[in-house]
Amino acid sequence: MEGVESSNAHEDDESHYPGELVELATNPPYLGRMNDATSSAYIKGPCGDEMEFYRVIKDGVVEEVKFYTEGCIATRVCGSVTASLALGKSIYEVLDIAPGRIIKLLNGLPQNHCHCSILAVSTLYKAIADYLLKP
Ligand code: FES
Repeated sequence: MEGVESSNAHEDDESHYPGELVELATNPPYLGRMNDATSSAYIKGPCGDEMEFYRVIKDGVVEEVKFYTEGCIATRVCGSVTASLALGKSIYEVLDIAPGRIIKLLNGLPQNHCHCSILAVSTLYKAIADYLLKP
């Protein structure tokens, strides 16, 4: 797959990531929780990492977004990039955000961390469902 490195490393070793991604994971924008979110979601991935997404949606547009995880470097970076892509978008534009797009924007992820992008985007989608299915 294009943009995916073939590393077999299983540990969350910073040396597998460019310096700017390590920096982004250290201080990820949008990291945090919200008490007044209009939609939220939580997913625990098969690896055990967890992701939460919170959004404030007004008139169908994402006005605020936060994510929370204590997961690996890739999970924190994927959460941050996913949140940045969602901010200011309509809920239907948010549906164009895909794990492959996150991986491309990051210029690849180690193969055993591609699922981190799936966890981030899936949690975002679950938050969309939370919003759309509210009575
Ligand atoms: Fe599983 Fe990052 S290692 S989500």
